[in-house]
Amino acid sequence: MPEQQNKTFYLETFGCQMNVHDSEKVIGTLRQQGYRQVETVEEAGLVLYNTCSIRDKAEQKVFHRLADYKKLQTQGKRFGVLGCVAQQEGEKIFERAPHVSMVCGSASYRNLPQMLVQIENGGTRVTGLDDRETDECFETEFTARSNPYRGYITIIEGCDKFCAYCVVPFTRGKERSRTSESVLQEARQMADLGYTEIQLLGQNVNSYQDPAGKRSFAELLTAVGEIPGMQRVRFTTSHPRDFGRDIVQAIEALPTLCDHVHLPVQSGSTRVLDAMQRLYTREQYLERIAWMKAAKREISLTTDIIVGFPGETEADFAETLSLLDAVQFDGVFSFKYSPRPNTPALKLDDAISDEEKARRLTILMEKQREIQKRNYQRHVGQTLEAMVEGRNEARGQWVGRTSQNKVLNFTALEGVSPLPGTYVPVLVKTSFPNSLVGEMVV
Ligand code: 5AD
Ligand code: SF4
Repeated sequence: MPEQQNKTFYLETFGCQMNVHDSEKVIGTLRQQGYRQVETVEEAGLVLYNTCSIRDKAEQKVFHRLADYKKLQTQGKRFGVLGCVAQQEGEKIFERAPHVSMVCGSASYRNLPQMLVQIENGGTRVTGLDDRETDECFETEFTARSNPYRGYITIIEGCDKFCAYCVVPFTRGKERSRTSESVLQEARQMADLGYTEIQLLGQNVNSYQDPAGKRSFAELLTAVGEIPGMQRVRFTTSHPRDFGRDIVQAIEALPTLCDHVHLPVQSGSTRVLDAMQRLYTREQYLERIAWMKAAKREISLTTDIIVGFPGETEADFAETLSLLDAVQFDGVFSFKYSPRPNTPALKLDDAISDEEKARRLTILMEKQREIQKRNYQRHVGQTLEAMVEGRNEARGQWVGRTSQNKVLNFTALEGVSPLPGTYVPVLVKTSFPNSLVGEMVV
């Protein structure tokens, strides 16, 4: 490597919050090894991609990036693929992109220091890959959190659910939880550092099982929410099957637990849910929603939906649309079904054309947009607490977020500059389907 690039790295992250947080751990580990992070590929000696393979489109992104920068290898740059595509494709990546010298799945990040030494010594096919049975967690000794007020804590890794469409059980291994004591210790350390918002992470966060048997997931939530100084606690992503009433009761009882639950439903048709191996029916899902609708605090609900799963009929799709009507979500992430390697659904005939999937997706998104328009509208006239995230100079507005995880942009009085990370009351004046706008009040 040329001298000035020595021990510099560039890292780009794709995918979910778990990946974003893993990247914070990777950055911390690399810094500990004497590496410095740079902002461009050109400046870097080591170029890393933390990848996602949830849908084919996400997976292709990393191969496009690698192709774009292939010629830079001649300048002595090294390339590494981390995360879910690394774990899924393994050494095949070296065949497809021979300029890659490292492939490392998320359960092997603790071996990064040794792997880096191998690369520094000229290693060209350095691997860190695990089988599904690994017990490794990448604990957080050297986490370099990018935001000083709001941070993630992984409480459970991997997944044992094996939904028919999903690659996660293969890329992130079996389910393994941290002890609640170690989670609380990390949360207290964060509070001491000035963090006021913590988001607990897991592929199925509410499947959490304290290995020491001390606290249930709801009890852990409450314990984190009771840490002095803590203002907002979030958790994602929940699985409906393991979603107990105690979680709703915890949110009702403790205002620091945010009034927002992301509960992916995937389909409104029990027949499709069964084919997806989701382990619940439409009715059971709606029962959980009813608990939340009956809560003393209004709880904002968001979800994920897949359209065009193999065998989804027009009638099944209509049931998904009717579920949107029934629940009135505040946000829906919707996707066209994408066949993934290793998954059980690969054996099913993916007979629904891409055009038909696109058609269903558009119908669903348009419907949801109308619902959200109405949902967001009802906040007009309310005074909501916003955590200040920063400033949008172009709009001349401050950017904030509500406890329900809604974007709330606002103006402040002349000469007042609210500090990022503080909480301010904002009177909502205008609404859009995805954001609110208001004025800070005193
Ligand atoms: N095709 C399309 N969407 C998928 N998701 C997961 N796997 C697939 C797939 N094979 C969606 C689900 C999940 C979200 C993170 O991504 O809706 O909740
Ligand atoms: Fe993508 Fe899933 Fe991996 Fe997250 S865990 S990066 S969503 S494949």
